[in-house]
Amino acid sequence: MHRSPFTLRAARARQGRGCIVAAFRQGEFEMGNAPVAGNRNPKIGRNSKIGLATSLFRDNAVLRNVVIWVALALGGAGVAGLATTGESEWLVAVALAAFALVLAVIDLSQTEHALRRNFPGAARARWFFESLRPFARSYLVEGDLDGRPFSHEERDLVYARAHGNADAHPFGTELDVYSQEYEWLAHSMLPNPDADPAMRVSVGSSQCKQPYSASRLNVSAMSFGALGGPAIEALNLGAKLAGCYHDTGEGSMSPYHLKHGGDVVWQVASGYFGCRDSQGHFDPALFAEHAANPAVKMIEIKLSQGAKPGHGGVLPAAKVTPEIAMTRGVPLDQDCISPARHSAFGTPVELMEFAARLRDLSGGKPIGLKLCVGNPHEVFALSKAMLKTGIRLDFMVIDGGEGGTGAAPEELSDRVGMPLREGLIIARNALVGAGLKGEVRLGASGKVTSGAGVAINAALGADWCNAARAFMFSIGCIQSRKCHTDTCPTGIATQSPARQRGLVVEEKAARVARFHGATMRALHEIIVSTGLDSPSDLRPFHLRQRINVAEMRQIDEIQPFVQPGELIAGTDHALLAHWWNAASADTFRRVDSDHLSPV
Ligand SMILES: Cc1cc2nc3c(=O)[nH]c(=O)nc-3n(C[C@H](O)[C@H](O)[C@H](O)COP(=O)(O)O)c2cc1C
Ligand code: SF4
Repeated sequence: MHRSPFTLRAARARQGRGCIVAAFRQGEFEMGNAPVAGNRNPKIGRNSKIGLATSLFRDNAVLRNVVIWVALALGGAGVAGLATTGESEWLVAVALAAFALVLAVIDLSQTEHALRRNFPGAARARWFFESLRPFARSYLVEGDLDGRPFSHEERDLVYARAHGNADAHPFGTELDVYSQEYEWLAHSMLPNPDADPAMRVSVGSSQCKQPYSASRLNVSAMSFGALGGPAIEALNLGAKLAGCYHDTGEGSMSPYHLKHGGDVVWQVASGYFGCRDSQGHFDPALFAEHAANPAVKMIEIKLSQGAKPGHGGVLPAAKVTPEIAMTRGVPLDQDCISPARHSAFGTPVELMEFAARLRDLSGGKPIGLKLCVGNPHEVFALSKAMLKTGIRLDFMVIDGGEGGTGAAPEELSDRVGMPLREGLIIARNALVGAGLKGEVRLGASGKVTSGAGVAINAALGADWCNAARAFMFSIGCIQSRKCHTDTCPTGIATQSPARQRGLVVEEKAARVARFHGATMRALHEIIVSTGLDSPSDLRPFHLRQRINVAEMRQIDEIQPFVQPGELIAGTDHALLAHWWNAASADTFRRVDSDHLSPV
């Protein structure tokens, strides 16, 4: 409920001084900061002059200025004690009193914080306890299933697997299986112990000359810049040991990505880092040179990321180290800017042409997109553009709005971007409904920490999953959420060599590989219990969702899932038909007229 300052002050006046008249007498009845016009009370407007002198003696003066009075008393006692006994111990009291007095005087005279001006010295306790809150909550108050963005249970599972500790769970689930959040996978009466243990997935359409065999779980995009060099090294060596890929993130390929020879997916975002000309536009020659590196297995055009869709980014000049400048191909002494949108294309068809160009320049490596879904018709437009041009993407990775980032505006993280579940289903329908899913593989990212997470996304249409923060946990991240401050306590999200020292590459790489291996074994156990051969055989009906305490549904009874080619043939799902009709290969804007109607 909104309360005006007028109302609040009136309420305070009633509580504190008995009646509204008292507030007028005290000259406190103000509209915002301005005194009420026409009020003749001479005290109004003199507040700043009342300031220091009277604030020490009026309005709860003893409590408000407790630090000053106690310091004076202590100092007086110290001086008296020193004078009468001559013992030097009294100097401690004098020093303490002087220290408290200096603090209080600083607070009284500064103009930035009202609280410190009104409660000199004492107000600092508030900031102190405020800063302790996250630690107290995390270490003392939260239960196993609490904790944001990742619960203790989720993190503990990653830590246990990364350390190679037993991850068996005793005594049954702690989840409330009758809560509306509960979902589960359907097992079979006839498990299949012969299910394929490798569970690899081949990525590469008919137009790709160098298809890639991907793991079902890979290291998601995290830039060199957001993470420090040793963290990138540990992830890359870990990916090599695990047999999965490591996405560079939009900061391009650094020497740390290439040092250990792990498979790399090179992400090309709107800044074209590593393949840009002096104006920041795409440079085909530079791209071809780097894409030819044998470590580069696939190329990913980043359209958006769930934590900050449509947001470019600025790495301030002060943070552009020589290594970052070299990796990104940007000048040392300038802010490094990622624009909000690409300059290489502006329509779905142009995007397909750009993808085809990258495939040619890379010698036929798989080319894909990474995006967080915003408007469903835009995803449908990608399918229409593939049909119109005949160009095929090799893969699309859907990132959920719940995804992570090094730093982003809070509004974008909290309120912009579709969560993974819905975004993945829309992308799956766009590809399946246009008869393209056979060629275009689907990846998914958004809080995947376990084999169950991979399996659930597989049931919704994902061929593989990527994880960013789970792999950060595996190399020691403690979810302190200081990634944007360059003061990461575990040496992961920082460029400070002193902090990076804590992260020993070989030790952490082994943890990456152990976490990956244990998670893949857990996924395999799920596939065995479902009686299927591979995660690719999971279907929406394998996923059940509780919708209230007495009922559950298969996920395809809740969400629409089209059959192959159904969008082209004409679907009965009204909303999907609506999005399909609103989509065009030639523009990302809607081409139906509904959105033009006045509201
Ligand atoms: C520190 C950090 C840096 C990231 N940098 C990028 C990036 O450069 N490009 C990108 O596409 N996504 C980036 N992401 C998003 C992740 O790749 C991923 O899509 C998202 O965090 C969801 O996965 P998660 O829930 O497993 O973390 C970053 C995430 C984190 C935590
Ligand atoms: S430990 Fe904290 S600052 Fe470091 S990566 Fe993890 S969340 Fe970010």
